[in-house]
Amino acid sequence: MNDYEGMCDKAAELIVQSIKKNPAISMGLATGATPVGVYKRLVNDHKKNNTSYDQLSAYNLDEYIGLQKSDINSYHYFMYNNLFKHININKNNCHLPDGMAADLYKECSRYESMINSIGGVDIQLLGLGENGHIGFNEPGTAFSSVTHLVKLEEKTRKVNGRFFQSFKDVPAHAITMGISTILRSKQIILLVSGKNKSLALAECLNGKISPKLPASALQLHGNVKIIADKEALEIYRYTIRN
Ligand code: F6R
Repeated sequence: MNDYEGMCDKAAELIVQSIKKNPAISMGLATGATPVGVYKRLVNDHKKNNTSYDQLSAYNLDEYIGLQKSDINSYHYFMYNNLFKHININKNNCHLPDGMAADLYKECSRYESMINSIGGVDIQLLGLGENGHIGFNEPGTAFSSVTHLVKLEEKTRKVNGRFFQSFKDVPAHAITMGISTILRSKQIILLVSGKNKSLALAECLNGKISPKLPASALQLHGNVKIIADKEALEIYRYTIRN
């Protein structure tokens, strides 16, 4: 795609088509800056064309530990404000890990079992971290991982710090779907935008599969669509030319 706007058009179009085909679809959703434009388009389409979400169920990838759902930096807040409150989704079908659960280990197994019970989501939307993470699966995470607690890398906290008042407010831990949870999805759409993701994307596309680069696990999945803009593809383009 030429740019971010084109990427979001394409991803939203694919998602709307899939919902029309199967209104009871299960969607794995991501937060962060990248999918915001896609959610905007889904909301506009819902308003304009009445695409219905009343049978759809949503399962988010991750949530910070220690932030209330009402905290503006929690992923609960993000999803509600960017998508859920604008569409006719049943709020009981909106699932995110509970980062305030009294027993976080139990919460991880509850979340994993819920995704297991539907046999993995139908479509998983993913963003890409500058360090190659997917969800909050940081470099070194086993490909066999299921929903688990993670200590966030300093780099991830710094990058995500742009949304917080100060670095010290960025939670150090999160709950995330594991890599094997993600790979159980029937279809995966990876969205990648911007120069800062270009190296991670090139490494993913260049064939090596290693836990050092969590997103390289996607090469083990048979149905992945990568929707990237020109800037994100810059290094990859250079490597195939040379
Ligand atoms: C978000 C998530 C993360 C982000 C990634 C990219 O739920 O799981 O993996 O997708 O950190 O974030 P942005 O889109 O802000 O560059």
